[in-house]
Amino acid sequence: MSGSYAPLQFRNLSDIEIEHRYRLFIEAVCDYAIFMMDPSGNVASWNPGAQRTKGYSPDEIVGRHFSIFYTAEDIRAGKPEQLLAAAASQGRIEDEGWRVRKDGSRFWANVIITAIHDEQGKLVGFAKITRDLSERRRTEELERVAVGSAIVQQTRENEQKRIARELHDNLGQQIAALKITVSLHEAELVQFVPAQARARLTAIGEVSEQIDALATSLRRVAADLRPPVLDDLGFVAALTWMTEGFERRFGVHTRCEVRTQELRLNDLAAISLYRVVQEALTNVARHAQANEVTVKLSVDDRDCHLRIHDDGVGFALDSPPRADAFGVLGMRERIVMLGGILRIKSTPGNGVSVTAHVPLSRILAQPNYC
Ligand SMILES: Nc1ncnc2c1ncn2[C@@H]1O[C@H](COP(=O)(O)OP(=O)(O)OP(=O)(O)O)[C@@H](O)[C@H]1O
Ligand SMILES: [Mg+2]
Repeated sequence: MSGSYAPLQFRNLSDIEIEHRYRLFIEAVCDYAIFMMDPSGNVASWNPGAQRTKGYSPDEIVGRHFSIFYTAEDIRAGKPEQLLAAAASQGRIEDEGWRVRKDGSRFWANVIITAIHDEQGKLVGFAKITRDLSERRRTEELERVAVGSAIVQQTRENEQKRIARELHDNLGQQIAALKITVSLHEAELVQFVPAQARARLTAIGEVSEQIDALATSLRRVAADLRPPVLDDLGFVAALTWMTEGFERRFGVHTRCEVRTQELRLNDLAAISLYRVVQEALTNVARHAQANEVTVKLSVDDRDCHLRIHDDGVGFALDSPPRADAFGVLGMRERIVMLGGILRIKSTPGNGVSVTAHVPLSRILAQPNYC
């Protein structure tokens, strides 16, 4: 760090004069910009934290007016002067907003300006403490976005659950009733229809088969919207069920290694992790030409780890994604929403590993004390 901070000479702590102690303290502070200004707002002292935050060395800034740290809009609006006037009249003013570094970049700052008076009460200057909150603000924004999309996702899943129930309970029952009615008519007609008209009964038999096909499609659509196995059996059992189904359907040898007891996941976590495995397996079926795929689930005292690994053709991670490919994006979004991270490893010819690490604190269902 360039600049001239005169080194302090002292023998032991109690020998240091009180201002020197303050100076020592202020110079040791690197996370806060702490500096003094004269009554008109010209910079009079500068600490290493100020240099670190704003980019100016003491030689470059001492003597300059502090409005240099404000944005053009704030300067036009007279904000620096207003803050000084407020600090002078109220003794202290706190503000949060954009400030400008020497290189022109902006940072989000918390600023406290305190007026300093001499023994006669005359204003002799101001002390200003600035803290760079950019990182905190970025984290808060990320959290807000994550919480926002978690709510959207939860709403979407709830809606799908509702439609799935509606399909099953309402439409499903009507189709079942229709099937029974047709079968009854079929049975009755066999008795009464003369032999020469029996051929017409075949048509009724076909209607009955179509109704069966309709019921099967309906069950599949409902299960896709909200896999009932998740609610009926829980996540671990659903995972086993899904991998067995995958092996049967696509002929890819599939191992499911679960190194935990049944996990009591909250609704959002259960459906999100389920969908991640579902998408990863769909990708194996569509792209991998794999002989074997392994799904592993384990937990430690902090996190849940989920890994889907195949031995297929793999792909180059640095090749630009197709504009209409949403699978990997969706998986990542679901895991980030649960406060976790998703990693994908692959090189052409060496298969693909999709790994999710998710904090247990975000995915376990709250115990029900009722
Ligand atoms: N297991 C895999 N093996 C080989 N390539 C894969 C695998 N998983 C993903 N890929 C590659 O990564 C690309 C992106 O996957 P992603 O799931 O995002 O999109 P997609 O499957 O092509 O389309 P969709 O939006 O329907 O999921 C795929 O197009 C494919 O090239
Ligand atoms: Mg996909």
